Amino acid sequence: MRIRDAVLAELLLKREQYLSGEELAALLSVSRSAVWKAIGQLRSEGYAIEAGTNRGYRLIGGDVLSREGVSRFLTTPDIDVHVYSSVGSTNTLLKAWAEDGCAEGTVAAAEEQTSGRGRRGRSFFSPRGTGLYLSILLRPESNAGAALGITTAAAVAAAEAIEALSGEPTQIKWVNDIYLRGKKVCGILTEASLDVESGGLRYAIVGIGINVLQPAGGFPNELRAVAGSIFKDSALPDLRNRLAASLIDRFFVHFRQLGDEECYEAYRRRCSVLGRRVTVLSGGVAVAEGEVLDLERDYSLRIRYDDGTESLLSSGEVSVLA
Ligand code: BTN
Repeated sequence: MRIRDAVLAELLLKREQYLSGEELAALLSVSRSAVWKAIGQLRSEGYAIEAGTNRGYRLIGGDVLSREGVSRFLTTPDIDVHVYSSVGSTNTLLKAWAEDGCAEGTVAAAEEQTSGRGRRGRSFFSPRGTGLYLSILLRPESNAGAALGITTAAAVAAAEAIEALSGEPTQIKWVNDIYLRGKKVCGILTEASLDVESGGLRYAIVGIGINVLQPAGGFPNELRAVAGSIFKDSALPDLRNRLAASLIDRFFVHFRQLGDEECYEAYRRRCSVLGRRVTVLSGGVAVAEGEVLDLERDYSLRIRYDDGTESLLSSGEVSVLA
């Protein structure tokens, strides 16, 4: 274990209590200057570490996303979480790892994404410290059709985790945007690699972005009407570590029971387009209008179009008409 990781683990264990440099050095069998260097590194990463004269160091409050922090709250076995201060996109990073043979359950998360990606080639605003940006690697033994099930399992998991944290109901805008108090607080991007011969999935990556706190300076103008955050600000220690663990745990429960009635019902209850008049968009362009009659078991929408025809929509986007 790196000295930085070991020092952090000890500080987390004794949270709010002082640990002297001497104690830490003895516990970890390293020099005091190595401890001092590790403390400096942790501080530069954003950990609030107080130094008391003749008392040592202690970790105070703070909400820094970390491998140790997330792992402490996780209950699902065999999850390997990697947390970065800054990456381009956690989906892109994990894709490279998947190609290198990484196992299912590998998770990449970041404090900030410099090229966060959304659906349909859009970018995903991913500022430092206020969001949760994470991707999960899956190796499902199912065909390409399972990708929609994976996305919806992630949508239900995100909705449940956000509700557990905020105590407020969420809505799922088909197929995978989570809304809280009328604003989008979470988006999901699922990407898969197909085995051409078998038609099966080599791997799938489900990337989830949640706006946890209000970004400093607010959302950019073009997002302001749509985007929101779960909280304005928060002093709750480990807020995003807890949310990440809760999200991963809930996701794996639904993923292991892909196609189950329970997940379908949980999605349906929150599905905000049911019974609504919508515009159907293809490639971002409006192609038809109609009413959403039902959500099928494969998560496609049954739509009665204004020309009287009825059909199932399993891809694309819908936008609710006022
Ligand atoms: C959308 O709303 O269009 C989907 C947004 C998905 C964003 C997440 S953040 C973690 C992962 N990494 C990315 O680059 N995108 C996804």
